[in-house]
Amino acid sequence: MAGPPALTFLLLVLLLPAHQAIATAAGDAHGGPAAGGAAGRRHAPGLEEYGGGRIVDITHVPSDAAAGPLVRLKESMENGSDYNLSELRMPCHMGTHVDAPGHMIQAHFAACLDVDTLDLEVLNGPALLVDVPRHTNITAEAMESLNIPRGVRRVLFRTLNTDRGLMWKQGGDMSFVGFTEDGAQWLVDNTDIKLVGIDYISVASFDHLITAHVAFLKNADIIPVEALKLDNINTGLYMLHCLPLRLVGSEGSPIRCILIK
Ligand SMILES: *[C@@H]1O[C@H](CO)[C@@H](O)[C@H](O)[C@H]1NC(C)=O
Ligand SMILES: *[C@@H]1O[C@H](CO)[C@@H](O)[C@H](O)[C@H]1NC(C)=O
Ligand SMILES: *[C@@H]1O[C@H](CO)[C@@H](O)[C@H](O)[C@H]1NC(C)=O
Repeated sequence: MAGPPALTFLLLVLLLPAHQAIATAAGDAHGGPAAGGAAGRRHAPGLEEYGGGRIVDITHVPSDAAAGPLVRLKESMENGSDYNLSELRMPCHMGTHVDAPGHMIQAHFAACLDVDTLDLEVLNGPALLVDVPRHTNITAEAMESLNIPRGVRRVLFRTLNTDRGLMWKQGGDMSFVGFTEDGAQWLVDNTDIKLVGIDYISVASFDHLITAHVAFLKNADIIPVEALKLDNINTGLYMLHCLPLRLVGSEGSPIRCILIK
């Protein structure tokens, strides 16, 4: 079952080019666990350890293939300005991003449930990283098999998408794994999960693109976080920190997410 052409286009526009892999690899070189190492730096004893732990960046670098450069110099020293000043231009659902309730529920959009109203208490806190069985989309059956305990409020679902390296591939692959409608509804009915993280651009599988989103978003307190970089991390419990931009009136925002172990 193919989705509506406009949606297919939307998904394609938000997809990532190959050169992004290079940018991300470079980013990792200075953004990895050792970044900002405190070695040799003077600090009060215990200060660096406060809330400390290893930081894992689970954010992808957003692509600039589809719509031209995301960041461009408006003023440049090369051209005689005293400073360099860039401007940012990108769709709000590109790269690692968050959906607000208004994304697919008109009543929520009308009620101004934009990204600026998202609950930071949900976006930040203990989170469980789980591996979804690789032979299936996230159906009710798959959800049940994961045995996620009651009380767990944030779950990052790692799927076949990560194994297939879909976020690193150029162009869209609509065979990605995501929630089916019954899987999304099962989560809503049988768990305490409020933050649903996934490792490709849509929390909903392509065949259930609208229905599974709606199953989540009709509950204004459930927050999908999409296109997370979950490669090479052990499953288990982490502190998750996700911060969207304060884009008043927007139903989505790029988001920076990190895990701390
Ligand atoms: C500098 O100015 C030239 C001519 O207007 C323009 O083509 C170029 O893109 C500018 N470069 C930067 C970095 O702003
Ligand atoms: C400013 O932008 C120019 C390109 O116009 C670049 O070559 C230069 O390195 C930049 N300078 C700084 C300080 O970033
Ligand atoms: C997940 O669903 C998509 C269609 O939405 C399908 O193309 C894909 O093969 C499914 N993946 C698995 C592992 O069942």
